[in-house]
Formats: sequence, structure tokens, C-alpha cells
Amino acid sequence: MNKDKLLLRTRFIDRASHWFMVICFILVAMSGLSWFFPSLNWLNSVLGTPQLARILHPFLGTVVFVVLMFLFARFVKYNLPERQDAIWFRNVKNVLSGDHSQPLQIGKYNAGQKILFWGIMGLISLLMLSGVVIWRPWFAHYFEIPLIRIALLTHAVAGVSLILLIIGHAYLAFWVKGSIRGMVTGYVSRRWAKSHHDRWYQQISKSDKP
Ligand code: HEM
Repeated sequence: MNKDKLLLRTRFIDRASHWFMVICFILVAMSGLSWFFPSLNWLNSVLGTPQLARILHPFLGTVVFVVLMFLFARFVKYNLPERQDAIWFRNVKNVLSGDHSQPLQIGKYNAGQKILFWGIMGLISLLMLSGVVIWRPWFAHYFEIPLIRIALLTHAVAGVSLILLIIGHAYLAFWVKGSIRGMVTGYVSRRWAKSHHDRWYQQISKSDKP
């Protein structure tokens, strides 16, 4: 790999955190889904036995939350709304049809990725809060039954919403050729940067920093 022709997009600490969190997320999501319907019960075998899944699910969920808060601190500055995001929204049809002929003034992340970022962070926060309220035997006894019922519903809705959002995120990551390589090796080609994140490309070409 000739790194002179490539640009550093994502640092090692962020990549390692992302993929470690993805593994934990898959285990948490599968064990969580296993409690929705009896026909999905087999999914909790990912954590050994049903009893182990029940014990480990909240701990692993907390790990996902903590790593995502770390990524939040690292990436929030790239995901704040900007004036130029409106250009991406106006041209979303072209973006979806793979037409990158117009300069869209896209920074490190595009407006769609920013929405996804805030969606992920909001839902994981809801999951953590509601998860603490329903976490037996550690915390649930501090709360009234009606609040536990609301927390159970919130937890289920937020969990399914986050899983759906992540399916969309993973699909788009595979769809935009070169993205996965960026998250695995850390590097993307200049061509990729120019066509998908033109303003970010100009910024780092000037400063030589990601
Ligand atoms: C197999 C599943 C997944 C794949 C293939 C994947 C892939 C990627 C890729 C390629 C990027 C970099 C995008 C870019 O450089 O433009 C990224 C960023 C990111 N991913 Fe994932 N991801 C997966 C699962 C997850 C999960 C489960 C979460 C959280 C629950 C997550 C949260 C994030 C966040 C927060 C970013 C940074 C985006 C931003 O700051 O706007 N990912 N992912």
C-alpha cells in the first residue's frame, strides 16, 4: 500500500474502538432480539446459555455505551450542522444515483452521516437510561413499577430502532466503495476523498491533517 497516494481518514484508536464496539453490539443486539419472540430464543446462544445471556447483555450494553461516548467525544466536531449541509440535502437524489459531478461542499461527514451519528448517540443514551431502570437485580428495585413499564417499552422500541439504523449504516458503508477500507486500514484514496467529501479533501490537502 503506497501511503503517499492515500489519505489518513480514521486513526487507529477510533478504528479499534469502532470494530470492538461493533462486535459487542452484535452480541447485545442478538441476545436482546432473542427475548422478543419464543421463535428467536435460539439467538441468545451467542452468549453461551440463556442464563448467561441475561447476565451479560446489560454489561455488554454498557460497554457499547461507553465506547460510543468515547467516539462521540472524538467525532462530535465533525458532525455539527453546517450551512453547507443544505447543498447535500438539495442534491440527495444525485448522491443516491452515484452522480458526484457537482461539488457538494461535503466536509468530513455528509449530512446523512451526521443524522445517523445523532440518531445512534440519542438511541444508545435512551437504551442506557431505560436499561438501568430495568436492570435486575442491581437497580430496578430503586424504581416504581409504572416507571419500569415505561422503561421496558422505551428499551424495546429504542433497541429495534437502533438495530434498523445500524443495518442502514452497514448497508451504506458497503455501498460506498472504499469506505470499509477507510475504517479497516485507516486510509482512503485521494479520488475517494475528492468525490465523496470534497470540502474535507480541500481542507486536509491544505493542512496535511485529517
Ligand atoms: C457491520 C457493521 C458496521 C459497518 C460495516 C460499519 C462501517 C463503518 C464505516 C465504513 C465507517 C466510516 C465512514 C466514513 O469514513 O465515512 C463507520 C463510521 C461510524 N460507525 Fe460504523 N459500521 C458498522 C457498525 C456500527 C455500529 C454497530 C455502530 C454503533 C452502534 C457504528 C457507529 C459508527 C459511528 C458513530 C461512525 C462515525 C460516523 C460519524 O462520525 O458520522 N457502526 N462505520
